[in-house]
Amino acid sequence: QKHYDYLLVGAGLFNAVFAHAAARAGKRCLVLEKRAHIGGNIHCDTVEGIEVHRYGAHIFHTSNAEVWDFVNRFVTMNRFTNSPVANYKGEMYNLPFNMNTFSRMWNIRTPAEALAILNEQRAEIAGEPKNLEEQAISLVGRDIYEKLIKGYTEKQWGKACTELPAFIIRRLPVRLTYDNNYFNDRYQGIPEEGYDALVQALFSEADILLNTDYLADKEGWNLRADAVVYTGPIDAYFDYALGALEYRSLRFETETLDTENYQGCAVVNYTERDIPYTRIIEHKHFVFGTQQKTVITREYPSDWKPGMEPYYPVNDTKNQALYEVYREMGARESVIFGGRLGEYRYYDMDKVIESAMVRARALGLTVGDET
Ligand code: FDA
Repeated sequence: QKHYDYLLVGAGLFNAVFAHAAARAGKRCLVLEKRAHIGGNIHCDTVEGIEVHRYGAHIFHTSNAEVWDFVNRFVTMNRFTNSPVANYKGEMYNLPFNMNTFSRMWNIRTPAEALAILNEQRAEIAGEPKNLEEQAISLVGRDIYEKLIKGYTEKQWGKACTELPAFIIRRLPVRLTYDNNYFNDRYQGIPEEGYDALVQALFSEADILLNTDYLADKEGWNLRADAVVYTGPIDAYFDYALGALEYRSLRFETETLDTENYQGCAVVNYTERDIPYTRIIEHKHFVFGTQQKTVITREYPSDWKPGMEPYYPVNDTKNQALYEVYREMGARESVIFGGRLGEYRYYDMDKVIESAMVRARALGLTVGDET
């Protein structure tokens, strides 16, 4: 049996970058992936010629020039700019909160008018905000809170805003310009060839076994390589010895429609409480698709139970403390824990790439553009 330098558990973005760095150093990698495809959560299916983001909308954005140049070596990033729209009872508001939003909400025209209303409404909360509702009002006032934050947030967390801690919303950026670009990052886009092409290129020299669960025979697999990089859930690695870390999950309902253009943009947030989904994604708009049909996905937030797909870590005090104990246990293993599940944190794609670069370089590997 072939022996490898690295056993990489999980075929997501973290290990893809790591595999690329290892291959450059002539190291051999064996990748185990539980699912039937590579790419982890950035994987897309193709339906009616349209790339469908199977695990939620993925928009690449970064201010890190090195990371941007890195991905552009493997794929061509298009000029997609995320400018989502909120639908509140049929009223359409631009996001993030900016002059377009305020002008629609209050029928005003100038930044001074908007600021006057915002400040008047912010003053409703006098002392230290006691919960998420008070925090949001102190940041953007009651009108924006009621129409654009309350219902959406309650659906996301499955709890009333008055029962959620204030710290969940630390900042709510308010822009006094007519600028609908959601991200502040210097670079953003979607790979024209698709995310899978990026991951395939990065894994091109690795041997990959799909539908293979490392944890079903951890000790056996460990014999196949000198070192292990594990990007699955850290609590699962230890067989939940101290209990399970909690997540929020999502349910996706995808539908093909016999219409060319369903909603006119990639992302529409549904901010009223009574509509059970939080967003509808129309996938073709990520790449300016011109197909005759369209594919849309409704996103329903849900509670998470063991066995379900973990999406968002619940980084509250209890879970964070539990993670710290698992992390210390992990530090005593001769295994590298990386990525969003291995480190139990929400990581955007650029941050995952950055983190994999750092970890690879610490082992003397390089990603290719070092001077
Ligand atoms: P990832 O989860 O992708 O990969 C881990 C892999 O390990 C999985 O394929 C899993 O099956 C496998 N695995 C686990 N246990 C295993 C075992 N025992 N044996 C074998 N394999 C195992 N970021 C961004 O920049 N812009 C965006 O718009 C979004 N949008 C977004 C939406 C939603 C809903 C989520 C949840 C996340 C985002 N992200 C994002 C974040 C992005 O998805 C994330 O940064 C990367 O996918 C993380 O890559 P990893 O390799 O860390 O994990």
